[in-house]
Amino acid sequence: MKAEKSKAVQGFIRMCDDGWNAGWHERNGGNLTYRMTAEDVSVCRDDFCCGGEWKDMGVTAKNLADEFFLTTGSGKYFRNVKASPDENIGIIEISPNAEKYRIVWGLSGGGMPTSEFPSHFLNHSARLKVTGGNSRVIYHAHTPDIIALTYILPLTDKAFSRVLWQCATECPVVFPQGVGVVEWMVPGGANIAHASMKLMEKYEAVVWAHHGLFCAGADFDETFGLMHTIEKAAGIYLRILSSGKNIKQTITEQNLCDVAAAFGVEINKENLN
Ligand code: 13P
Ligand code: ZN
Repeated sequence: MKAEKSKAVQGFIRMCDDGWNAGWHERNGGNLTYRMTAEDVSVCRDDFCCGGEWKDMGVTAKNLADEFFLTTGSGKYFRNVKASPDENIGIIEISPNAEKYRIVWGLSGGGMPTSEFPSHFLNHSARLKVTGGNSRVIYHAHTPDIIALTYILPLTDKAFSRVLWQCATECPVVFPQGVGVVEWMVPGGANIAHASMKLMEKYEAVVWAHHGLFCAGADFDETFGLMHTIEKAAGIYLRILSSGKNIKQTITEQNLCDVAAAFGVEINKENLN
């Protein structure tokens, strides 16, 4: 089968398009990666071109040796993925020592994987470990309302988790651990990748101050849904603040615990008072 027509690639393309339509991907902003299943790989394999050059990733994680990832291209626009997948996204193979990658499909015309691949890679490694292999998607978006909150809230996991949980009743059910926060750092390298990975061992969502949000999940629906839920909660908080009125009532800590218990999830008490 042509890789482009496979279920994995089609799901990936749809998610890029959904992110573009949500307004989270100005220019080349944001990136998406998917750790392929053995079945995804076998469906696409006929279309792979091997023998490409192995390139250093600058990070390593032994539990991702020999894996295949779908990735958006560096400098590529989410807006263009649907119209021209082969140029804007690609499949890469990780080397047996988990230090290098090579392109086996797509990114035609000299494209490269996203510059945030080190962060995606280490986040995949962390989530694979804590979910027993269930987690497959890492998604980075430039979500404007979360970015706005990083200018006015303390840059702590607790401050962000509480505000977001309290902005919509479903939030503690969707992300009961809360969210982690990485202070402002230079993007695109190993340092921010390691800082993110540490938080991804605990959280499915990590805020990058003044930059955007990373989300992890088992599949495209779940990961897009998490991004959407968190960004929407941030938007609600900004609406509350911009109303100019004082907050008269909110979802209390007891309410947060009650809704979590009713839905059978364990809320992270570290992010409560
Ligand atoms: P890429 O175009 O390399 O994916 O970078 C976009 C981005 O959002 C950097 O953080
Ligand atoms: Zn970014």
